[in-house]
Amino acid sequence: MEKRDLISITDFSKADYLRIMELAAEFEANPNQELLKNKVVATLFFEPSTRTRLSFETAINRLSGRIIGFSDSSSSSVVKGETLHDTIRMVSNYADMIVMRHPLEGSARYASEVASIPVINAGDGANQHPSQTLLDMYSIKKTQGSLDNINIFMVGDLKYGRTVHSLLMAMSEFENPIFNFIAPPELAMPDEYKRFLKSKNIRYFEHTQFTDIISEADIIYMTRVQKERFTDPIEYEKVKNVYILKKKMLKNTKPTMKILHPLPRVNEIHPDVDASPHAYYFTQALNGVFTREAIISHIMGVK
Ligand code: CP
Repeated sequence: MEKRDLISITDFSKADYLRIMELAAEFEANPNQELLKNKVVATLFFEPSTRTRLSFETAINRLSGRIIGFSDSSSSSVVKGETLHDTIRMVSNYADMIVMRHPLEGSARYASEVASIPVINAGDGANQHPSQTLLDMYSIKKTQGSLDNINIFMVGDLKYGRTVHSLLMAMSEFENPIFNFIAPPELAMPDEYKRFLKSKNIRYFEHTQFTDIISEADIIYMTRVQKERFTDPIEYEKVKNVYILKKKMLKNTKPTMKILHPLPRVNEIHPDVDASPHAYYFTQALNGVFTREAIISHIMGVK
């Protein structure tokens, strides 16, 4: 059987997305299933992570798999100069699947070409974060009842935020999405993604503020300004607090509107929002466990 990887969200079809949604709901109802017994999964994190690594590792544990890997590449032979190629070749011999985060765009695709086992991209630079997208979609489906006819406000760092890039591409497969991009010019959605939407005749609008149109949102997807991707710290300082969502801004929103954030947050959502019925980001992170159980099972063909 040919191996399956998840590197870009477009590696999965709409049918795959729907299957993942279905499986995630099954795992939410019954998280502990012995589907990965005697399987070893390597989690290779060349870049910091809390949620992605821990929720993947929780998912693997709940499926009775075993985990090897590192959360800090400075404890690996990378510091001695070992290449990504050789690291992946080696780990392919030890494990049945690789989950990898790496700062370089394209590194996950390269790893999947070198590896003889499935590779899941847990984030490659500013490029893609497909497992985050699937858990975002699961969160949207759970809270809105459907993935069709969703008006999504994407707010903050739309240039470097890999999660918005993947989410936009996946949601474009569903009926009648509307995207509102809210960013300062320095952090605007890159042209390639706008061209992609145009090619599919999907509506998008660009703004620098959103309080006057907030009543239209089904989902407000907040993002952190990605400090680590800036080459000039002064440029980061200029935009780091460009949007701060506060409870008082939520008065005219739809009752069903939910606020998502891939997390970690810095200042972009004030803590006074946390108690609002619109705040969904912590549940969204929990949904990551069920969704990652679904992704792993789907790729390994065990469900
Ligand atoms: N959402 C996300 O990728 O979080 P971490 O960086 O903590 O993994």
